[in-house]
Amino acid sequence: MNQTNTTIPVITIDGPSGVGKGTLSHALANHFGWHLLDSGAIYRVLALSALDHHLSLDDENRLAQLALNLSLTFDTHDDEAKVLLDGLDVSQDIRREEVGGTASKIAALAKVRTALLQRQRDFRQLPGLIADGRDMGTVVFSDAPVKIFLDASAKSRAERRMNQLRSKQICATFDEILQEITARDVRDRNRTVAPLKPAEDALIIDTTSLSISDVFEQSINYINNRHIM
Ligand code: DC
Repeated sequence: MNQTNTTIPVITIDGPSGVGKGTLSHALANHFGWHLLDSGAIYRVLALSALDHHLSLDDENRLAQLALNLSLTFDTHDDEAKVLLDGLDVSQDIRREEVGGTASKIAALAKVRTALLQRQRDFRQLPGLIADGRDMGTVVFSDAPVKIFLDASAKSRAERRMNQLRSKQICATFDEILQEITARDVRDRNRTVAPLKPAEDALIIDTTSLSISDVFEQSINYINNRHIM
């Protein structure tokens, strides 16, 4: 399939790292019984594959070729969705900070983004799609009828990330995490192709001092008022 069915509803959830997009997107996909696109996971799998192949992160053509040929599957049979690269479960591996940092670097390359465009649009299947990323509302699904952009201070996102890592018994200092999040923000917001920014018609929610259920409730109220289903 090389087309996108624009009659199928999409809700886009964009925002910076660690803002709670994943949590909100999962909750909305469960609530509506819709498909879920974790576009960051696609960039992360590509980054992992580039690291495995020892590709230079400046070699745009080879990285774009790798992106086109990426053997990537999302296995959604279990409660916890698995991400497979060449049939191997890489769900844990792609969450490493090194992989996230590399994903952010190669995501700045225009040819890489173009190579991944149709793969992302193919997720638009009935009954609907929740699309989580950086440019879902501005580029990939710019015609989406509902767009939400989550934001929060870098400090509060670093605190959340540190708590997540601690709960998984992974050691990291607050300063290291804050530095990594800030560096990723600068790259993702300032790149020339598809920079991280809210779509003009997006609802912006600052989650700095909101609970997960507050964010969910605000989003559901907004979506219901848009009458898209
Ligand atoms: O959401 P995440 O942290 O898993 O994404 C990892 C990186 O991938 C992020 O720093 C930038 C890039 N990315 C992107 O450029 N566009 C997207 N739609 C999703 C992710």
